[in-house]
Amino acid sequence: VKFVCYNNDGVDQHMIWLIGLKNIFSRQLPNMPKEYIVRLVMDRSHKSMMIIKQNQVIGGITYRPYSRFGEIAFCAITADEQVKGYGTRLMNHLKQYARDVDGLTHFLTYADNNAVGYFTKQGFTKEIELEKERWQGYFAAIKLLTHVPDAWVSFRAKVLLELCKAIMVKLSFVKAINFTLLSCKYIKDYDGGTLMECKIDPKLPYTD
Ligand code: ACO
Repeated sequence: VKFVCYNNDGVDQHMIWLIGLKNIFSRQLPNMPKEYIVRLVMDRSHKSMMIIKQNQVIGGITYRPYSRFGEIAFCAITADEQVKGYGTRLMNHLKQYARDVDGLTHFLTYADNNAVGYFTKQGFTKEIELEKERWQGYFAAIKLLTHVPDAWVSFRAKVLLELCKAIMVKLSFVKAINFTLLSCKYIKDYDGGTLMECKIDPKLPYTD
């Protein structure tokens, strides 16, 4: 088997594999509207890490890389190849590629409730570090902007948050805060999923 990562780049072979992957997602993720799957798999800002066995796709992960984190949209292995370790190898290849090629530090995903076990084994947790950073960023910025003592922050938080958002987006004076601000807008919510996060180790070799 080999692991390849492509987006909709117009190359015939890549398109054939992406269509194969789309069909696996449609079968394995019956709650996802088929049009939504096609749209994201074929969307040029999404990439797909795929497992190729005898020139056939047997599984893959479609994700969207943002500036620092990636959002995993779909993940599946074809029915007769499940529980053979391919899902784990796939995620390891994705982590290595996303870190070394895309420069990502985290993955976020809405895991289907029956897939939480799989994602947990791959190092995903329900504690969201990115979210925490965001709030820490907000409060640091509020204090910075208003010079109010700690005790006041919670009292005025709501109004000030809106003010900060507007100012930060305009000036983008703290890149990290800006990024986290945008990140919550990017992650799409849907029913039945659990938001999970995985930190990618900066050095660990994930594949051999
Ligand atoms: N629940 C709990 N544990 C699981 C599950 C599960 N649904 N699936 C696999 N595992 C465990 C395995 O037992 C194994 O544990 P072990 O290392 O202790 O033996 C470990 O996770 C990895 O198993 P693999 O064989 O590598 O996993 P597999 O190749 O079967 O791939 C996957 C896992 C992708 C979830 C596959 O079973 C699948 O396609 N399922 C149907 C589609 C699906 O649910 N996809 C995820 C939806 S969420 C989303 O797409 C964002």
